[in-house]
Amino acid sequence: MDEFPALSSAFADHPTLGALTPPERATHPPRFLLLYGSLRQRSYSRLLVEEADRLLRRLGAETRIYDPRGLPQPDDASPDHPKVKELREASLWSEGHLWCSPERHGTITGIFKSQIDWLPLEAGGVRPTQGRTLAVCQVNAGSQSFNAVNALRILGRWMRMIVIPNQSSVAKAYEEFDEAGRMKPSPYYDRLVDVIEELVKFTLLTRDNAAYLVDRYSERKEAGRAVTGAAPLAATLTDAPE
Ligand SMILES: Cc1cc2nc3c(=O)[nH]c(=O)nc-3n(C[C@H](O)[C@H](O)[C@H](O)COP(=O)(O)O)c2cc1C
Repeated sequence: MDEFPALSSAFADHPTLGALTPPERATHPPRFLLLYGSLRQRSYSRLLVEEADRLLRRLGAETRIYDPRGLPQPDDASPDHPKVKELREASLWSEGHLWCSPERHGTITGIFKSQIDWLPLEAGGVRPTQGRTLAVCQVNAGSQSFNAVNALRILGRWMRMIVIPNQSSVAKAYEEFDEAGRMKPSPYYDRLVDVIEELVKFTLLTRDNAAYLVDRYSERKEAGRAVTGAAPLAATLTDAPE
């Protein structure tokens, strides 16, 4: 039987095959950036993110929650603005994200979207989101809906992130948190635990190969780069028609 081309002997000596199967897995705690989409004093999207943060830390992860307060509107300030720098730096540091937006008028909030709009897909060879994992969540005042998580999934795809299958949508969020801001026990809480576990699993599985996963034939071609330094699978495509 034919071998899978990328793994066949023709590629065994390929200098980048090691990128697919790194000799050693990273052992440091996985790093997550958590974003929410509201400036309200008692914000349920922030409270859900804080609950997610506790769970991630419980699983041994390192986390940063970004506070969107004070972030200018996209293009209304220089990228040197301290809140923009903080956001970009945190995303670069991260190996995975968790996003939670309120649903407003059937979609995500502008506050949430502004944060993503400040993150360049690629700037000067730096890719703050590409290749990272992403879990998406939303809070609703009404019954359970999936409009915001669906929008976040599209946004995650656009930022070339690995959006995990599970997700959380909390209906009537105002009933799900106590006075201290902790999430009450419920099927919504259990679902959040599922999402967090899955996010950690996908991150551990993919982080060592993130650079390999984001390597694209069309971008190498555009940059005039040769096959070397590219992923082995893509090396089969050097003769693709112009
Ligand atoms: C202008 C506006 C539009 C809203 N639209 C929706 C909606 O389409 N669906 C929904 O379930 N809740 C809707 N809500 C309720 C918010 O989702 C809810 O208050 C949520 O908790 C806000 O997030 P936060 O607590 O993080 O601020 C809307 C609220 C406002 C102010």
